[in-house]
Amino acid sequence: MIYRIARGIGFRFDPETAHRLALGAVRLSRPLRALKRRDESAAAAVFGLRFPNRVGLAAGYDKDAVAWRALAGLGFGHIEVGTVTPLPQPGHPRPRLFRYPDRRALINRMGFPSAGAEVVAPRLEGSRPGGVILGVSIGPNAATPPERRVDDYLVLVDRFRGLADYLAVNVSSPNTAGLRDLEGAPLGELLAAVKRRAGTTPVLVKLSPDLEDPEAAVGAATRSGVDGIIVGNTTVSRPGFSGDTPPGGLSGAPLGPLAVERLRRVLAVSTLPVIACGGIMTAGDAAERLAAGAALVQLYTGLVYRGPALIAEVATIARTRRGDS
Ligand SMILES: Cc1cc2nc3c(=O)[nH]c(=O)nc-3n(C[C@H](O)[C@H](O)[C@H](O)COP(=O)(O)O)c2cc1C
Repeated sequence: MIYRIARGIGFRFDPETAHRLALGAVRLSRPLRALKRRDESAAAAVFGLRFPNRVGLAAGYDKDAVAWRALAGLGFGHIEVGTVTPLPQPGHPRPRLFRYPDRRALINRMGFPSAGAEVVAPRLEGSRPGGVILGVSIGPNAATPPERRVDDYLVLVDRFRGLADYLAVNVSSPNTAGLRDLEGAPLGELLAAVKRRAGTTPVLVKLSPDLEDPEAAVGAATRSGVDGIIVGNTTVSRPGFSGDTPPGGLSGAPLGPLAVERLRRVLAVSTLPVIACGGIMTAGDAAERLAAGAALVQLYTGLVYRGPALIAEVATIARTRRGDS
């Protein structure tokens, strides 16, 4: 109810302003939320880490790590900040984020606006409220030529290795030209290089739901020695939409069926733990992914439309899953 009112106010602003206001509100409410107790039976061991529960905040919500402690206070078991790039960059010109409330969807072409690694890194130091697990999503600068993108990832690994609980290699954003090429032939080599450099910090790779051959990507990821897979990012397809839509990645309810189909294909061939992401708008959506075999779930658009109540709902339903790795 309270969130509905807040959402009504927020949706009067353009989506990016509303997002900035939401982050500000979460930060302000932090002292109250810090008092919330955690449910020990919800914890899960995955990638050698202890997650306080199985629901996380997907990358892109707190790109510059300005509110992750407060967001943890909303009940997330893990927060993935970023995607962070080595150097600061503005991303694409606005408007670049579009709301479709009747479809519970978003389309974005943010293009990795980032404060850059040197600004973000110090914000990760210090306490982890409630034992929250902190992931850092890493990606190259738009201006870096394709042949030097591996170096960008390695710079980021060096900067965040000691600060992040895990690193997520983002090769699947549709909004940086050519980025998704890294999901093909170069994937194995890129991930092996990142893994070597990361030392004991777990490395995950986030895949696109548009990959035609996710099995090949899983094979490359497994051979590279990385620790897990996130399935997945936004889609450039437009399931259920007719007519013109802006270019960019679609998230939220319409992404759900594709995300689940890709999740099942990945799970069928993967021996690595998998995080399910995409179209989780209800506790039932999360339960479906966990029953399929996902170790953890992440959400973004569901938080925009349903508010923090969704986090508790998902955390509760996810408590019953067995078979930790
Ligand atoms: C505005 C916006 C920005 C995003 N930025 C990133 C990002 O920087 N890195 C990333 O890996 N994913 C990013 N994503 C994708 C989300 O992490 C998630 O994979 C996707 O939205 C599907 O989940 P959902 O349907 O729960 O939103 C972004 C999504 C949105 C809506």
